Amino acid sequence: MKKNRFVIKKTFKSKKNKVKLVLMEKSLIVMKQFNSKNMLEGEYKILRRGCERLNIPKPLGINIEGKTLFMSYIPSKNLCDVINSSSVPLKVKNECMEKLASWLVDFHSYFKSSEGVMIRGDSILRNFILDEENNIWGLDFEESRYGMPEEDIAGICSSVLDTNPMFTNWKVELCKRFIDAYKSLSGWEVKNVNKLVFKALMEKAGRRKNGVVLTKFAKSIENLDF
Ligand SMILES: Nc1ncnc2c1ncn2[C@@H]1O[C@H](COP(=O)(O)OP(=O)(O)O)[C@@H](O)[C@H]1O
Ligand SMILES: [Mg+2]
Repeated sequence: MKKNRFVIKKTFKSKKNKVKLVLMEKSLIVMKQFNSKNMLEGEYKILRRGCERLNIPKPLGINIEGKTLFMSYIPSKNLCDVINSSSVPLKVKNECMEKLASWLVDFHSYFKSSEGVMIRGDSILRNFILDEENNIWGLDFEESRYGMPEEDIAGICSSVLDTNPMFTNWKVELCKRFIDAYKSLSGWEVKNVNKLVFKALMEKAGRRKNGVVLTKFAKSIENLDF
């Protein structure tokens, strides 16, 4: 990409990298500055390979030395905010979880090869957005790797459960609906999700202020029929 002037319009909420909406040559695009070149290259590879077929941003350019990726901007709401909002009806949240299952089946199917299944990694609600026509898009692929689809499924369920409001009954139901939709759309066997959700929650419990509460909830998940 040739050197261009740009104007920063917005900084997105992010924990790992610096992600900004910028105006460049009259177009709004997203500029993501990574902490590591490897992570940048990993994400770029997934975007390049998948952007024609999957709902993921189109890579527009890369600056390896500056550890920066430019990609298409999708005007959207963050899925984490939608699921946790008290003003969004449960019916809409259920539909979102079914669409999310469909997105995940598409991703796993597309990146399945003789070497295994490429999982998206870092499967949290905040790494998904809902566009103006209510389509789900996935973002943030720097942690993609070969793995088990159940790891992504459990990542999403633990993120549904451990974001505020935490562990409500309706959230447990959202997770079940999501897993059922994934199973029926993929036709694949899905095993041990509750054990992986437990593991993910326990890992987070060790890092969070509310670790004691999370541990208690994690233990209650172990006996659920996920
Ligand atoms: N292409 C995009 N279009 C619209 N919003 C985006 C786009 N890329 C990132 N975002 C927003 O920026 C946030 C952070 O981006 P992300 O790639 O997840 O960075 P990080 O690796 O720091 O988590 C996302 O949660 C999303 O809300
Ligand atoms: Mg992210």
